[in-house]
Amino acid sequence: MKDVLKAVKVTEDIYWVGAIDWAVRDFHGYFTGRGSTYNAYLVVGEDPILIDTVKAPFKDEMLARVGSVLDPSQIRYIVSNHAEADHSGCLPQVIETVKPDKVFASEMGVKALADHYHMDRDIVPVKDGENVSLGNVPFTFIETRMLHWPDSMFSYRPDVGVLFSQDAFGMHLASSERFADEIDPSVIEYEAATYYANILLPFSSFVSRLIDKVRSLGLKFKMILPDHGPMWRKDPGWIVRRYAEWASQKRGNKAIVMFDTMWQSTAKMAKAIGEGLTSGGAHVKLMPLRECHRSEVATEILDAGALLIGSPTLNNGLFPTLADALTYVKGLKPKGLIGSVFSSYGWSGEAAALLEKAMADMKVEMVGETIKVKYVPDDAALAQCYSQGKLVAEELGKRAAP
Ligand code: FEO
Repeated sequence: MKDVLKAVKVTEDIYWVGAIDWAVRDFHGYFTGRGSTYNAYLVVGEDPILIDTVKAPFKDEMLARVGSVLDPSQIRYIVSNHAEADHSGCLPQVIETVKPDKVFASEMGVKALADHYHMDRDIVPVKDGENVSLGNVPFTFIETRMLHWPDSMFSYRPDVGVLFSQDAFGMHLASSERFADEIDPSVIEYEAATYYANILLPFSSFVSRLIDKVRSLGLKFKMILPDHGPMWRKDPGWIVRRYAEWASQKRGNKAIVMFDTMWQSTAKMAKAIGEGLTSGGAHVKLMPLRECHRSEVATEILDAGALLIGSPTLNNGLFPTLADALTYVKGLKPKGLIGSVFSSYGWSGEAAALLEKAMADMKVEMVGETIKVKYVPDDAALAQCYSQGKLVAEELGKRAAP
């Protein structure tokens, strides 16, 4: 493969030298239906620089792409913007192969890399706002703690207005095209939103603060080069504006009904609630959890205003898919939702209280009453579900952003 894997020229002196993972479908619990890329960048100045590396199994792909521009042993510096293994997994092997003069990371990055790889090698810490020239190429390093790990940082080239943004502004999308402007905009929008919802949502306050900080520093971006998915060369401000909007967690007139069912009782309740929500004017999405992945639910919640959840009681507990999805969604810390709970049961009926507790833990504001149905809902119970859906939709209509 050495002679077929090529670098992609980005600017006069920057090349994309990453790897395309067409196969990955699970990224620590996040369903990556379109695969991903692990982006690394080669800066060809007086002293060649490698920005980030790739997931360990893709080391040879990255080095082959580097090799289409120069001999990897010519790399003098490596900058590690983020210590997570999809970007640093092959760093120890690359250091061994390339023998760079220096490897740079944020102060927290130095610690994180030491805890990951236990290398007998000094990594040079850089401070927030530090300006460093690597050969004839100037960089400003900007700490981006908790976006999305404590070690995360941006590397910015003030001379050409290029931001190496690691995970931020990225997406899981394998493609033959390397630039966002070459790809169907609806795919870009969906995958960028999915990435934000599944990776960055819990850190939204940090996103807002970082955008304010970058604006106050007056940094101008001609290009944003993230560590996943396509690069932003035309209107990079588009993705920054989208991040500002997602981070604000403004809630729309959309309701998600997330549920599972044993013998179709909870499913019938969900359907009736969905009809009631529609009649009340909400946009509605029913998400049966054996068919919908937890990360799809997370994506739908990004611009929703209401979350309604239903589960039968199984062995005195929640149906397992609900326990799974609620653990995941709770960890993403969505804010400002309203909602309600519904449940069918046979004798003990603990699921309803467990769902209410999950909603309280997520600070979802409850509207109306929890609906519990013994065994199978009759017409009266389904009418109650319909009314409950309508009530939630009416409340949502009063609050939702236009
Ligand atoms: Fe793409 Fe946080 O790693």
